[in-house]
Amino acid sequence: GLEDKHKPAKVKFKPIQATNKDELVLPQGYKYDVVALYGDKINAKGDTFGFNADFTCFLPIEGSSEHGLLWVNHEYLGELEYYVTGYDALHADPKNNTRTSAQIEKYLYSLGGSIIEVKKQNGKWTLISDSKYGRRVSGLTKHTLTGPAAGSAAVGGAREVTGTFANCSGGVTLWNTILSCEENFDSVIADTKLKDETHYGWVVEVDPFDPNSIPKKHTALGRFSHENTAMTLAPNGQLVVYMGDDANDQYVYKYVSRGSYSKSTGKANARLLEEGTLYVANFGKGKWIALDYGKNEALQKAVDSTGKPLFTSQADVLVKCREAAKAVGATAMDRPEDLEVHPIDGSVFISLTNNSKHGNFYGQIVRLFPKDNNHAAEEFTFEIFAAGGPQSGFAAPDNLAFDSAGNLWVVTDISSSSMNSGIYKTFGNNGVFFIPTSGSDKGVAAQFASAPVGAEMTGPWFAPDEKTLFMSVQHPGENLESYEAPTSHWPKGGTSIALPGVVAITGF
Ligand code: FEO
Ligand code: CA
Ligand code: CA
Ligand code: CA
Repeated sequence: GLEDKHKPAKVKFKPIQATNKDELVLPQGYKYDVVALYGDKINAKGDTFGFNADFTCFLPIEGSSEHGLLWVNHEYLGELEYYVTGYDALHADPKNNTRTSAQIEKYLYSLGGSIIEVKKQNGKWTLISDSKYGRRVSGLTKHTLTGPAAGSAAVGGAREVTGTFANCSGGVTLWNTILSCEENFDSVIADTKLKDETHYGWVVEVDPFDPNSIPKKHTALGRFSHENTAMTLAPNGQLVVYMGDDANDQYVYKYVSRGSYSKSTGKANARLLEEGTLYVANFGKGKWIALDYGKNEALQKAVDSTGKPLFTSQADVLVKCREAAKAVGATAMDRPEDLEVHPIDGSVFISLTNNSKHGNFYGQIVRLFPKDNNHAAEEFTFEIFAAGGPQSGFAAPDNLAFDSAGNLWVVTDISSSSMNSGIYKTFGNNGVFFIPTSGSDKGVAAQFASAPVGAEMTGPWFAPDEKTLFMSVQHPGENLESYEAPTSHWPKGGTSIALPGVVAITGF
C-alpha cells in the first residue's frame, strides 16, 4: 500500500546558506552535470537547443531512470536576445521595433520546447547529439487547435496555427505526453510583430516519442497566461487538470473532463482534453465556479464598457477567460504559479509568488483540500501551508515538485532586477528549497541549492528512481548593465558569456 511505499523521509542533506556566488551551489555530497546548453546540437539534422530553458520532464526509455527523453520549455529571450538574434534589446527603444525578418525567425526558433535524448554514461549525464527523437517545437512549428474554440470566430476561424512560445512550466499526461504552457505571450507577439494574438495563451500537448506528431493546443483548458498543469483523476475516472494564471490579481482554474480515463485507451485519452468543464476558484466561498456559457447567467449577461455583450459563445468564454473569471466573481490571487497534487494525500499545493500591488512581497504556498478528496467536487477548503519571508528563508515561490515521500521541492523567482537588493538582499540569489509536508519539520524550509547570478532554477523534475533531479538554469546573467560586463559566466567560467541550460543533479 501507499504507507509501505512512502516511508517518511528526513532531510538528507546539510542545508546551504543563501549566497550571491556565481555558481550553482549544492550541499556537500551532491554534484551537477550540465546536460544541455543554449545552442547545443540535438539531432542529426542539426537542430539546436533553445534559449532560457524552463520546465523539464523526464520520460524514461524502456523504464530506465538513466536513459530517456527530456522535454524542456524555452520561455523567452529578454535583454539576452542579443546573443541569439543580434538585436540589441538591452539598448533598443521598445516603441521602435527594428527587428529584421531574419532576426524574428531566429527569435521564434529559440522559443517553444526541445525534445532531447539523455543518458547517464560512466556516472555522467550526457546529451545524445544525433538522437532520432531530438526535435524542436518552436515559434515556427505548425500546431492544431482542438476543442470548443477551434475554428470559431473567437480565434479568427483558425484550426491550424503557427508556433508556440512563452512556454513557462507544464506537466505530463497520464498517457506519457507533455503539456507545455504558453504564459507571457504578449511580449513575444509585440517583439515578433505577429498579428493573431488569440492563437496563443493555450496549453500545448506534444508527443515526444512520435517525431512526426503535430502538437495540439487544447482550447477547452482556456486561454490565459498559463503557468503549469497538474493532472490527476477524480474517483469516477474523470480527468482533472489544475492550472494557474501567473499575473497580479489573476485566478486559479481546474478543468474536469466529460469522459473518463482508461489506461488501455493510451494516447487516445488526449480526447479527454477536448470536452469538459473549465472551473475557476472562489476562495471566499470555497467553491469552483463552472465557466459554462450555456448555464451561467453571469456570463450571458456580462457586457463591456460600451454595453456590448462580452461573450456570445463558449468559444468566447475560453478565449477571454480572464474576463469570464472576473464576471463570475472568482477570487483574484497573488500571481498563481505552479500547482501540484500531493502524491500521498491528494491535497493541491499552489504557489502564489507575490503581488507588490498588495504589499505581498514574499509570496506563500497555499494548500487546497478538495471536498471528500474528490478532485471533481465543486467545494474545497484551504490553508496557508508556508509563507515566504526573512523567517522562513525563501521568497517568491514558483515551481513546485514532490518526491514520492511527499516532500515539497520549491524554487524561488525573485526577479533579477530586485535580487540581492533592498528587502530581498538577505535571500541572496534564487534557490531551491526542501519543505516536508508532514512530521516535526512540516512547513520548515531548508535550502538545497543556490542559482548562479541573475538566474532562476526552474522546472524541477525527478527521474523515477529519485536519484537524479533535472532542473533548468534560466536567465543566468540577466539584469545586465552592458554586454561588455556580463554579471554571470555560468557554466564555463572565465570571461565566457553565461548560457541558460539544463542540469542533472545527483547525490540523492
Ligand atoms: Fe514564467 Fe510564471 O513564471
Ligand atoms: Ca515559472
Ligand atoms: Ca515566475
Ligand atoms: Ca521567471
